Amino acid sequence: MTIVAIIYDSATHNTEIMAKAIAQALESEGLDVKLTHVHEAKIEDIKGIDGLVLGSGTYHHEIMPALEVFIEQAKNVDLKGKTGAAFCSYGWSPEVVDLITNRLKGFGMNTIDGLLIHEKPDEAGLAKCREFGKNIAKMIKGE
Ligand SMILES: Cc1cc2nc3c(=O)[nH]c(=O)nc-3n(C[C@H](O)[C@H](O)[C@H](O)COP(=O)(O)O)c2cc1C
Repeated sequence: MTIVAIIYDSATHNTEIMAKAIAQALESEGLDVKLTHVHEAKIEDIKGIDGLVLGSGTYHHEIMPALEVFIEQAKNVDLKGKTGAAFCSYGWSPEVVDLITNRLKGFGMNTIDGLLIHEKPDEAGLAKCREFGKNIAKMIKGE
């Protein structure tokens, strides 16, 4: 089974809505998805996975603190050569998606361009989330 972990932080649920749409798309491609709010996530959740997808709301131009802690812990897991991707909801500044993507690259992961959605995703935003999920699935499956 090909396993993808989606771990996210979200204070007002906008990034969470993105996470659920991305998860649905990955599942529709036949992948086994572990969708976890970072507050419930354990480092064991990302051992032996094929893909890691991280999401965060944007607060004070930074990755949300609990996700930042998780990323620091993830340094101890061998993710080299696995697929990585980031997604963010934002209000006015787009930097966090690249901050996360660069951290995944630092783990030696193969990353795809991150997904950025303004505030709560509307129907068009949800469609982008689903397309993003399908692109992640394709990369993992080597299609
Ligand atoms: C205290 C506070 C700080 C914020 N800082 C930023 C910021 O620096 N840049 C930005 O683009 N949006 C910022 N936002 C907007 C949020 O990123 C935006 O509402 C996003 O949809 C929240 O995602 P979430 O619902 O997943 O937590 C901020 C919002 C609040 C309440």
